[in-house]
Amino acid sequence: MNSFATPTRQTPDAAMLFGFWYRALASERVRHNRLQKAMLLEIPLVIGRDAQGRAFALRDACPHRGMPLSCGLFDGQQLECSYHGWKFDAHSGQCQLIPSLTADQKLRVDRIYAGALACAEHDDYIWVFVPEPGPAGAGATKPEEPPMPAPRVPTFSSAYKLAYLTADMPVNVDHGIIGLMDPAHGPFVHQAWWWRSRHSIHEKQKAFEPIPNGFRMSAHTPSSNSAPYKLLRLYADAESITTTIDFVLPNLRSETIRAGKYWFSSLTTVTPITRNRCRIDVVAAWNIFRWLPFGPRLLKFVFGKFVEQDRRTMELQAEGLKHDPHLMLIDDADRPAKWYFQLKQAYMDARPNGGEMRHPMSGPVTLKWRS
Ligand code: FES
Ligand SMILES: [Fe+2]
Repeated sequence: MNSFATPTRQTPDAAMLFGFWYRALASERVRHNRLQKAMLLEIPLVIGRDAQGRAFALRDACPHRGMPLSCGLFDGQQLECSYHGWKFDAHSGQCQLIPSLTADQKLRVDRIYAGALACAEHDDYIWVFVPEPGPAGAGATKPEEPPMPAPRVPTFSSAYKLAYLTADMPVNVDHGIIGLMDPAHGPFVHQAWWWRSRHSIHEKQKAFEPIPNGFRMSAHTPSSNSAPYKLLRLYADAESITTTIDFVLPNLRSETIRAGKYWFSSLTTVTPITRNRCRIDVVAAWNIFRWLPFGPRLLKFVFGKFVEQDRRTMELQAEGLKHDPHLMLIDDADRPAKWYFQLKQAYMDARPNGGEMRHPMSGPVTLKWRS
C-alpha cells in the first residue's frame, strides 16, 4: 500500500449471506401459544412458542396455496391454516391433517412439510438458521440441521447480567455493518457533553489479525473514549483493562473488555431484513455494577444514545443513497470495511464448490487513523 493510495470505488451490493444463524426476534416479543410475524433475508417467517415455551420458526406461507400461516390458529402444538384447515407440527413443519381427504384417499400427508427452520433461543433472542435457498419449486422438507450452534454473547463468570437494544436501520446490511466497524464517524456522530466533543479527535494505531471468517482488533487498552472502559475505570486501574473486538461473518461484532475478575462483553448483529433494510441488535453481558442499582439502566442509556445516533445517521444516509451515488473506501479508516467486503466475496466464491474460504488477510496488520 503506497502513501498515495487512491480511494477504492465501492458500492455495496448488499448480497445477503445464506447458511448462517440470524437473530430473528427478541425473546420477550413471543409469548406462549402465540404467533409473531418476522422477516429475515426477505423471507417472511412466523415465529411462535409452544405450550412448553419452546420457540419455533416456519416460513409464513402454507405449502398448499401460500396463505400466511401466521393468520391461522395455533393450539400450542400445531398450526392450522386459515384457508383449508391443513394442520402442521410447529417444530418440524410436517403436515398432520388435511381435512378435505376422504377415508379412501391415500395421499401421504406426512410427506408434506411447511418450511420449518432450525431455531435456538438464548441471551434474550430467538435465533433462526437461514439455509441456502433450495431449487425453485422443490417444496419444503424437514428443517436443515445447522452445521454450527447459534452464536452466544461471550461470558466469563457464572453470574452476570444481560440487557439488549434493538433499532431498525433503513439501509442495506452492508451499510449497517460498515457503519458499525467505522472508526472515523465517532467524533462527528457520537458527540455528547458527558462523552466527547469533536475536538477530542486524535491519532490512533490499532493492531488487527485474521481469525476464521473474520478479523480481530487485537487485545489492547481500550480507547479512552470507550463507554464501558470509562465505567470499568471505576473498578480497576487503567493498565489492567484490555479489550478485544472481533468481527465474524456474516454479521457478528463481539467486544470483550476484561479487568481482573470484572468483565463486560457484547455481541452486536446487523441483520438483513430486506435488501434495503437491516436491524441492529446489541446484547451486552457484564458482572460489574452488581451493587449499583442503576448500573443496567445507565448502560442502556449510554448504549441507547449511541445506537440512536447511528440510526439517525443511517436514516439521513438513506436519503443520499436513494439515487445510487458513487462511493469510496479509503485507507486506513475504511480498511476494516474493505476486509468485510473481501471476506464476503471469499465466502460466496467458496460456497458453491464447498471449498476452503480464502482469507483476504495474510497476517497481522496495523492501521492508523484519527478519531
Ligand atoms: S392454503 Fe393453507 S390449507 Fe390451503
Ligand atoms: Fe456509531
